[in-house]
Amino acid sequence: ERTAAVVLAAGQGKRMQSGVAKQYLLLKERPVIWYSLEAFEKSPVDEVILVTGKEETDWVREHIVDRYGFKKVRAVVAGGAERYHSVCRGLSALDGQDQRPDLVLIHDGARPLISEEVIRRTIEAAREYGACVAAVPVKDTVKVADGDQFAETTLDRSLLWQIQTPQAFRYGLVKGAYDSLMADPALQKGITDDAMVVERMTNEKVKLVMGDYRNIKVTTPEDMTVAAAFLDDLKKM
Ligand code: CTP
Ligand code: MG
Repeated sequence: ERTAAVVLAAGQGKRMQSGVAKQYLLLKERPVIWYSLEAFEKSPVDEVILVTGKEETDWVREHIVDRYGFKKVRAVVAGGAERYHSVCRGLSALDGQDQRPDLVLIHDGARPLISEEVIRRTIEAAREYGACVAAVPVKDTVKVADGDQFAETTLDRSLLWQIQTPQAFRYGLVKGAYDSLMADPALQKGITDDAMVVERMTNEKVKLVMGDYRNIKVTTPEDMTVAAAFLDDLKKM
């Protein structure tokens, strides 16, 4: 069985409001993206495709992959305008190889707190169910607002999960789903994660596997403080 990971780092990080894209900001002296690459390097995953902005591939190869010696990074490829474009490029890079993977994990490079444990759980669930995502039960009450920012309804919290990455799939299943998505622009609207692509384009069900409350996506400035505190706790770096 061959397992690959697509690590996404082609976003612009607009909500972080920093000069440098958030995946390259320093977190305890290492770039944010280093932590995900390090986790996969130590995991059972066989190879990694790193997706970056199209002007950044050479810089990342030299200053991240070579500098820190990530041996599992097979290719650094250019992403696209939306996250699903970037995922598509990553999946295609795996297709062009002599040996297609059996399973693929798709991971946000902006989630530096990904653990060995969560990687292992998503690999196992992808093998068993074909499609899964790491997720945690929602802690807060979630309301739907009307157009004037008044509460309209309250969702049943016991059914709500916050979706994280890795999202893991049988390779053929997710590649087929993405190919169909790219062929039909009308269906691309509102796609925010990989599970949605599988839900929308196939009949397969996506299993929710337990993620980790520490596995945050660094999105806004205060998330950097939280991520650093979690890394301290885990004595990483
Ligand atoms: N991503 C990507 N290609 C894109 C958009 C996002 O590879 N066109 C990646 C980001 O680099 C990140 C992950 O997808 O690792 C999750 O996206 P998000 O948190 O939304 O990051 P950004 O799009 O960079 O941030 P923002 O939405 O605030 O601009
Ligand atoms: Mg985004």
